[in-house]
Amino acid sequence: MNTPIYKYDVVIVGAGLAGCSAAKEASDAGLDVCVLTKLHPLRSHSGAAQGGINAALSSDDSIELHEFDTVKGSDYLGDQDAIKLMCENAPQTIRWVERMGAVFSRNEKGEIDQRPFGGQSSPRACYAKDRTGLTLLQTVYEQAHRGGVQFFDEYYVADIIVSDDKINGVVAFDLVDTKPYIFQAKAVMFATGGYGRAFKVNSNAHANTGDALSIVARHSLPLEDMEFVQFHPTGIAGSGVLISEAARGEGGILLNNKGEKFMKKYAPNKLELASRDVVSRAITQEILDGRGCGANKDHVKIDLTHLGADIINKKLPELRDLAITFLGQDMIDEPISIAATAHYSMGGIPVDIDGHVRKNSNDFIEGFYAAGECACVSIHGANRLGANSVLEALFFGKHVGLQIVKDIKDIKTVDVSFDDAKVAIDEFDNIRTSSGKYKVPDLRDELQQSMTDNAGVFRTEKSLLKQQEIIKNIRTKFKDIAIDDNSTTYNTDLQEAVEFGHMIDYSAFIVVGAIYRKESRGAHFRDEYPQRDDEKFLKHTLGYLNKNGDIRIEYMNVVLGKHKLAPRTY
Ligand code: FUM
Repeated sequence: MNTPIYKYDVVIVGAGLAGCSAAKEASDAGLDVCVLTKLHPLRSHSGAAQGGINAALSSDDSIELHEFDTVKGSDYLGDQDAIKLMCENAPQTIRWVERMGAVFSRNEKGEIDQRPFGGQSSPRACYAKDRTGLTLLQTVYEQAHRGGVQFFDEYYVADIIVSDDKINGVVAFDLVDTKPYIFQAKAVMFATGGYGRAFKVNSNAHANTGDALSIVARHSLPLEDMEFVQFHPTGIAGSGVLISEAARGEGGILLNNKGEKFMKKYAPNKLELASRDVVSRAITQEILDGRGCGANKDHVKIDLTHLGADIINKKLPELRDLAITFLGQDMIDEPISIAATAHYSMGGIPVDIDGHVRKNSNDFIEGFYAAGECACVSIHGANRLGANSVLEALFFGKHVGLQIVKDIKDIKTVDVSFDDAKVAIDEFDNIRTSSGKYKVPDLRDELQQSMTDNAGVFRTEKSLLKQQEIIKNIRTKFKDIAIDDNSTTYNTDLQEAVEFGHMIDYSAFIVVGAIYRKESRGAHFRDEYPQRDDEKFLKHTLGYLNKNGDIRIEYMNVVLGKHKLAPRTY
């Protein structure tokens, strides 16, 4: 059977904020654009962003301060040209989405209200109660749809079609009947989100399996700074579901099992509003030292009772609901149970400031773009500040969409053929009909739990080398899996197995990058090397996947600027 071929100017993979923003801009400029998503667009993980989106709007704040906070938050690994571009454009990005219809919470003067977030010099996070991402996503999706973007919901992109350093399209499967399609395009943009599900306890949607990263890596293209995974301080104990930083922004206080406000030991100035890496380590240290709460002493508490029912119901209604549902604890009446949870991927597909995907530190793949969490621009360096990711997705989505419009006249069309789908079709068929001895859910549990144990908030040489061996072993077992559902109808068994293959690949990048980075910077903390080492490691990691699953590491310079290196204290 020949694989049907659809032809577009631009194919965007992922329908979160970055994908929808890019699609809207490219379509408004007259290009023929489609968006492929393995979900319904409104189930994209952008919709889970709770607390806010940064922009220096108030007279007490400035773009310069936003830049400085972001550079410092990144532990000086963020590229300052990209940070400058984003911070300068943050206010107009807010106006752009507001004019499209996004409804922000307002203060008593009727202005967009802004709440404090960690590591920031001024209240800077614009918000819509604690449902900011969903509000923005609904708006941008609606407007992209209205403008004529064609959405293919529940299409799983399994491969890219690349030849002669040029991307020509993607191979996708309709999840309803597992039928393969080719989408040919002059420009392809990935906006597929992060890879937090490599960890057992995480705040990510089930769909955040990081597939795009390993698809890119399997074509011998690099991934950047994959060792930097953000652990959000306040995940619901046990499940890791997010309790927004808005809880600390509105005045939440962290307590250990002695009722001590322990943040004063770790961040005497900023306390609960230090950057996320600092607060996550503080919580984890309290637990490791036996001051955790509950029978297993495996979590701490955040106390919001002093805010009172009115503020909680007005500003944090979703968080209250989540804590009641998952913990049976009402934050109006009692402190709730939290611990650090894998939340955000600072690393990703290396791109330049305009979203062009790198082939290496100097060259690019023609027609290939990425934005949002799957991309590494790098805005966030070694640690992201809260409320900068929604901004990054919205701003860089829009910016890269406009860049595609500029570039497209110079990009040639290369016709693809159904043979280009062969590798992906064979992989799907092999996995669908596999009848070995291991079950994917068991292997996935083993991988996620061991990643949490060995490559989590605190890392050591020993734990990382152990994890490298575990991944090798799981990779071998993955060749001998059994799939229960061999059908072609809505086969989630098959999809999860394909996704798990990707999870093995990008987990290896996280671990190998962490082994090589013998320093502590931002979210990456090595017990044996507790200091930042600018002389050796003020560099971006570029990792390349070999055919046997090994990873080769190179380094790339950081773009420095006017914000000079300094010790990072809060
Ligand atoms: O805590 C939060 O609301 C998450 C925001 C973010 O990750 O930027």
